[in-house]
Amino acid sequence: MTEPRHDPSDLSPLRARLARVGALDAAALAAERIAVLGRKGGELTALLRTLPSLEADARRAFGAAVNELKQAFEAAFDARAAALDAARRAREAAGIDLTMPGRGRWIGAEHPVTRVIAEIVELFRELGFVVATGPEAETEWYNFGALNFPADHPAMDMHDTLYLDVPEVPGDRGGRVLLRTHTSPVQIRTLLESGPPVRVVIPGLAYRNDPFDASHAPAFTQIEGLAVDEGISFVDLKATLGHFARRFFAADTRVRFRPSFFPFTEPSAEMDVGCQICGGRGCAACKGTGWMEILGCGMVHPNVLSNCGVDAERFTGFAFGMGPHRIAMLRYGIPDIRLLYEGDMRFLGQLGGGR
Ligand code: PHE
Repeated sequence: MTEPRHDPSDLSPLRARLARVGALDAAALAAERIAVLGRKGGELTALLRTLPSLEADARRAFGAAVNELKQAFEAAFDARAAALDAARRAREAAGIDLTMPGRGRWIGAEHPVTRVIAEIVELFRELGFVVATGPEAETEWYNFGALNFPADHPAMDMHDTLYLDVPEVPGDRGGRVLLRTHTSPVQIRTLLESGPPVRVVIPGLAYRNDPFDASHAPAFTQIEGLAVDEGISFVDLKATLGHFARRFFAADTRVRFRPSFFPFTEPSAEMDVGCQICGGRGCAACKGTGWMEILGCGMVHPNVLSNCGVDAERFTGFAFGMGPHRIAMLRYGIPDIRLLYEGDMRFLGQLGGGR
């Protein structure tokens, strides 16, 4: 047992509590009223009970202080209760119910494909590439012929290419009108418009007559790249794309080039990066190979240069094309491309956040 307090200055902790009554909510207010004034165990009640045992002088001075404090507490508790009550009634009148669960706010975020495109464009911008764009409806000449596809190439089949139901465009650069099957026709437009030296990246949509399944979409993004100048060699291609992979993925990302074929590049290659999911050990995402294919590339075919009026003896160049939808899938481990088209906030919310 502590000694009963007889000195009015001992009341200072209680005075401090009195000052805080105005900040209590309804539950804390009820508890504090009992803790201070409760008939059993209330702190002020206990002090009042000590008064009869005090000397007359002490009883007068201390008793007055304790009684004054008790009245102050009663007034403060009543005032706070009235204020809380008034606030509650005002909320009810305004239709606000604080017992309802909170509503989370949607915070906007870039779509993962938008983010991937922006990052890739920025990395190439640092290397001196500028953005170029072109139309999505093209003639056969821009999409195929100028790019050195032979006239009977299977890609031109209705099976793979979406043709538009409009009259053929006459002239050398015409032919049937189609939805571009890749962004490569913008290589042609860029060379025709500005000629070398050129360094461009071309983000845009491409279309193919594919079923919409886990790994194909009839409309998908591509980023094309083209550099044409005097003295450009395969070494420039490898250095540029290797640098890109290490900046975009991780500084220790391994790359490899495999021989491939495209009508508009010679030689042609495909570039793989070490699997971003398993780090190269082999997993389901890389089908056990440890590698993921991310782009097609090659040295611009001399026929493409001459189709655009560029002197193929003097100029050389490299080109590449990659799919941001696919790259977003590899980077974020997304198993089904359709998730990137559906706009389901439960999915997008997991990848949200700023760049
Ligand atoms: N256009 C090719 C495709 O869609 C990609 C590519 C672009 C390959 C440029 C080489 C050079 O598959």
